[in-house]
Amino acid sequence: MRRRFLKIMLAVLGFTAFGSLLYPLARFLSATRGEPKGKQLAFKKTEIPIGAARDIVFNGTPAIIINRPDGGFVALSRVCTHLGCLVDYDKSKKRLLCPCHAGVYDLDGAVISGLPTRPLREISLKIKGDDVVIG
Ligand code: FES
Repeated sequence: MRRRFLKIMLAVLGFTAFGSLLYPLARFLSATRGEPKGKQLAFKKTEIPIGAARDIVFNGTPAIIINRPDGGFVALSRVCTHLGCLVDYDKSKKRLLCPCHAGVYDLDGAVISGLPTRPLREISLKIKGDDVVIG
C-alpha cells in the first residue's frame, strides 16, 4: 500500500514538473505565432491633433502615438524601461510619466528623471499623405 502511494505521488510530481516546463514553452511558441510581424496600423492625421495622443496596442505592446507640438508624430512603447509599468502622457507637462516609481520621459522617449536608465522604445512611424502609418 505504501509503495503504491509513493508511486502515485512520484507520478504526480513528475507530471507537475513536466507541466511546469511545458507551459512556458507553449506560451512562448503561441506568443511568437500569435500576431504576424509587419502588421501596420494607420490613422488619419486629423484624428490626433497637435498636442494630443492616442493609446494603441501594437504587436502586443501597449504604445502611444503623440502629435508633439514641436516635433510632429512619434510612436513610443508605453512600457517603462525600469520595471515595465505603463507610462501615461501628461499633455500639460509635455512628458510621459511612470506612475510606479516616478520615472519621467520627454516626448522623444528619452529619460528626464527617475529610475529608468534607457529610453522608451520607439516604434516605426511614417507619414503617407493624410495618414500616420505605424509599423
Ligand atoms: S517602473 Fe517606471 S519608474 Fe519604475
